[in-house]
Order: sequence, then structure tokens, then C-alpha cells
Amino acid sequence: MSEFAVRAEKAAKAEKLDAGDELAGVRGQFVLDEVVYLDGNSLGALPAGVPGRVEDVVRRQWGELRIRSWDESGWWTAPERIGDRIAPLVGAAAGQIVVGDSTSVNVFKALVAAVRMADGAGRDEIVVDATTFPTDGYIAESAARMTGCTVRPVTPAEVPDALGDRTAAVLLNHVDYRTGRLHDLPGLTAAVRVAGAVSVWDLCHSAGALPVGLDEHGVDLAVGCTYKYLNGGPGSPAYLYVRSGLQDRFDSPLPGWNSHVEPFGMRSDFTPADGALRGRVGTPDILSMLALEAALEVWDGVPIEAVRAKSLALTDFFLECVAAYAPDGRVESLTPVAHGERGSQVALRCADAGDVMKRLIERGVVGDFRHPDVLRFGFTPLYVGFADVERAARVLGEVLG
Ligand SMILES: Cc1ncc(COP(=O)(O)O)c(C=O)c1O
Repeated sequence: MSEFAVRAEKAAKAEKLDAGDELAGVRGQFVLDEVVYLDGNSLGALPAGVPGRVEDVVRRQWGELRIRSWDESGWWTAPERIGDRIAPLVGAAAGQIVVGDSTSVNVFKALVAAVRMADGAGRDEIVVDATTFPTDGYIAESAARMTGCTVRPVTPAEVPDALGDRTAAVLLNHVDYRTGRLHDLPGLTAAVRVAGAVSVWDLCHSAGALPVGLDEHGVDLAVGCTYKYLNGGPGSPAYLYVRSGLQDRFDSPLPGWNSHVEPFGMRSDFTPADGALRGRVGTPDILSMLALEAALEVWDGVPIEAVRAKSLALTDFFLECVAAYAPDGRVESLTPVAHGERGSQVALRCADAGDVMKRLIERGVVGDFRHPDVLRFGFTPLYVGFADVERAARVLGEVLG
């Protein structure tokens, strides 16, 4: 087939896929332009309702109501309320998620609490995904030193063999931030449970892109950020999930006055609140948190299963178009072909990836570069369409050529 015919065929296919896209209407709820934005796995786009809400929070709630807003504008209960808004997106019943702090801080809370609640003496190992995003590894090291444990780094595939009587906690990523590989959350969680250890999942690259099923699969603890597929904005607060059956035993290493049973009692001794509230620490970052709350409104009526189906169709089509447009041997996909092992991004290895990404961005296709040789493209099904995918792959082919 000629180059022209290939391009015509892919464009026609994109048009057909866009016409059948049941989520196509959601795009209008975002502030977007002509750029093909494939970096929602780093920073989600701005939902159109956010600026107005932030303006109201600042001008009216803060500017006029001032201190009254802690009650009257629902500021005090925002961490649990917004946690309950995120809960259905990750398959959790209400009352198990609080929003606040960064993912890094929540990894710390979850891991130390996991070791403290691990059953039985002699559990002195924290098993950690060796391929993890660095912050999780750094924090696991520190949590281990604080709790008298050692860290055992293994790949997720090696986890079942690494588990034993000494395992206290296991920290895993649902989707690998570099390769986009989706790990077996149900199977690994079950293996951790059988070993008598506590599972901690980092959902940064899966929440909002695919069903997680926290309750269904019996996950113990989980954390995640809200600025990627949940579009909460730069530095928006993260969340912490504590399975309801474990909440009584959740002993936070950061017990602040916000997790006290009687926060305004101003007591010198600490008595934890019941439930997910135990994951709170200090005064919530209200401006970011309420921007996130507004951002989550784009999810009204959007089933996560439809998001997953579209995500797979987008990444399938991108891989197909890259194969058609990229010169042979110029890039190699690090992302699994099997749907059951793929998140919502495609990572392409390319020797001059840094330079290629710069040129892509100049030409209106925004992904990102991960050291030393990875081009990352994230596909947010709420606002990326199939024509975007075709254009991104075509421009990539041109830049690579
Ligand atoms: C998998 C994963 N975990 C943790 C983090 C760190 O999150 P934060 O900077 O919000 O603490 C990131 C950030 O991109 C991430 O991708």
C-alpha cells in the first residue's frame, strides 16, 4: 500500500472509531486546544468547571465566610467526602478513603501501618516492587528502618516466590509508570493474603483509567494520586484507602489532630477516630482539595468499564498506527500487547527519545520522556479521541523518519 493509502485507511478508521465512541461527549467538559495531549498520565487536563469553583471557594467561601466555611462550606469533612467520590472509581464502598497529603506521604502512612498490623512475630521484611516509581522505594527503605524491617526488592512477577513467614507488608504498583504494564492485582493480593502479609497498592497509574476493584479483590491498603487520570490539578491531594475490616488496627505513624476522635478536644493524649479518618493528619489543603472535588464532576454518569474499553481501543489503535507510520526498527514498544497486562499508556523505547519528544512537542503532540530512552504516551479516555491517536502516530512517524 502507498503511504497515502495507508494514511487514508488509518484516518478513515479513526473517524469510524470516533463516531462510535460513547465517551466522545465528555471531551467538551475539558479545556483543550489543537494540541494532541497524551500526557494525562502525568498531569490531567483542566476540567472546565474547576476555575469557576476555585473562584467561588476563594472569593466567597474564604473571602466572605472566612472561618465559617469550615462548617458551612463543608471544608472540615472534605477529605472523607471527596474520598467517597473517588471510591466508586476504584471499586471501594464508602467510608474507606480519605483524601489529603501527597502520594509519597500516604505511602509512608500505609507502609508503616501495614507493618504494625501484620500478624505474628518475626515478620520483618517489606517486599517492594523493584521496578517501582522511586519515591515508593525511598519511603519503603525509611519505613523499614523505622520498623526494624529489611526491604526485599523483587519484580512483581517474583512476588509470590518471595513471600513467606517473614513478610510483613508488600508494596506494589498496579501499573508500571515506565512501561505501562498492568500487574495482576487480584492474584498478587490473594498471594499476599495467603502468606499472612498486608498488601499496599499504589494506584497512581490505574485509578481513573481502568477498574481497580479494591473491595472485590480484598486489597488491604492503597494509595494514589489525583492529578493524573483524575484531573485534580498540579499537586492535588492524594488519597489513602484502608479496608473497612482493618480500620480498627490502622495505627498511623502520623497521628495528627485531624485523626483524633475529638479533634477540638485539644487533648494531650491521642485517641484515634474510627474509620478511614485515621488516615488524616493535619489541616487539609482546601484550595487544592476543592479544585479536585470540582474536577471529579466530569465522572458523573461515566462508567469506569466504558473508560477501560476505550482506553484499550485507543492504545490498540496507537500501536497499530505506530507500526504503520514509524520506520522499521526505530522504536520498540515496552508496553505489553495483551490487554490483561496493559494500562492506559504506551511506552516506546527509542535511542534518541529525549530529542524526539522535544520535536513532537514542537509539532503539537505532547507526551513525555523518561530517562534514558523512553517515550511515554498516556491515553486519557475522557478526552483523547481516535483522530488524536492517528495524528500523534503520524507526526511521530515523520519525526522518526
Ligand atoms: C507510581 C507513582 N507513585 C508515586 C508518585 C509520587 O507521587 P507524589 O509526588 O504525589 O508524592 C508518582 C508520581 O508520579 C507515581 O507515578
